[in-house]
Amino acid sequence: MSADKGKAPANSSTTALPYELPWVEKYRPKILDDIVGNGETIERLKVIAKDGNCPHIIISGMPGIGKTTSVHCLAHQLLGDAYKEGVLELNASDERGIDVVRNKIKTFAQKKVTLPPGRHKIVILDEADSMTPGAQQSLRRIMELYANTTRFAYACNMSNKIIEPIQSRCAILRYAKLKDAELLKRLLEICEMEDVKYNDDGLTALIFTAEGDMRQAINNLQSTHSGFGFVSADNVFKVCDQPHPVTVQAMISACIKGDIDQSMEKLNELWNQGYSAVDIVVTVFRVVKTFDEIPEYTKLEYIKEIGFTHMRILEGVGTLIQLGGLMARLCKMNLKPELFKI
Ligand SMILES: Nc1ncnc2c1ncn2[C@@H]1O[C@H](COP(=O)(O)OP(=O)(O)OP(=O)(O)O)[C@@H](O)[C@H]1O
Ligand SMILES: [Mg+2]
Repeated sequence: MSADKGKAPANSSTTALPYELPWVEKYRPKILDDIVGNGETIERLKVIAKDGNCPHIIISGMPGIGKTTSVHCLAHQLLGDAYKEGVLELNASDERGIDVVRNKIKTFAQKKVTLPPGRHKIVILDEADSMTPGAQQSLRRIMELYANTTRFAYACNMSNKIIEPIQSRCAILRYAKLKDAELLKRLLEICEMEDVKYNDDGLTALIFTAEGDMRQAINNLQSTHSGFGFVSADNVFKVCDQPHPVTVQAMISACIKGDIDQSMEKLNELWNQGYSAVDIVVTVFRVVKTFDEIPEYTKLEYIKEIGFTHMRILEGVGTLIQLGGLMARLCKMNLKPELFKI
């Protein structure tokens, strides 16, 4: 298969590619303007891209929300054609021990490159939280010594894995999870460009399952589209293989009514479909969080109970009885206390 990569099929007269790029890559934003969400932070990056004096930066945040993309867009906009010469990118797939920092990064920092006036070389350290503290330590002096010619851009999921001295040398930009409306905007654009057939429930399901992660939303969109040809809620949940929120909603509704039989029935249904206790409890949480039928006070109590159950499951007791216990507690909260008097 790999031999055919990039070649058009011999008998094809169309211009269609024989294989398709994953949409996440196909629609990776090329310029900062195309990145959705985190408006203020992106604005700051745009100002930097325009003025040219890029500080050392750390971008941190959850997976799939545009960190790597932003750093690349910024570097492209700053350096233009000189990108190849002026950027050294190292990510977690590269060796990044102390030796590499000493040799590769230092050599790059010392290298003379012709850049547009007022611009600096950029070292991109993606997934920087996986660098050992030792390797990070050895960057401290390098960052200072070569600051007038070389700037560092880190991207990471957890900024606390970056050692303090480096944090203090950098401007830290924190990316938040993307909002539903922001995911929707991008999904709609892609649906239009790829001619995807969808209904509103399908898009809502994609957003529900992605939880603010654009990469996941786009990947699930593509999988549903190529697997079923139509993006509906049912198809999305089949692809994502998560408990269907409608079933979970029915289960919670039964709890609100104090109907343990009904809620256990739904729970058994999910359990028999093979979902693990974690899958179920996580979906229960997400459903409860956005369920309008539950009064605020009850919702808070429910979330407390779900939290405790989640903890017990993570400690290793992920049995049906554990989940049944949760259902029982949720039901009990809505029953009148008199019922319990003997
Ligand atoms: N804010 C965004 N706007 C538009 N597309 C986005 C955005 N965030 C993510 N994407 C899409 O998701 C893909 C992955 O994004 P990116 O590589 O920037 O994630 P990341 O934040 O670096 O995640 P990780 O922490 O896993 O490295 C991109 O190719 C793009 O298609
Ligand atoms: Mg990344």
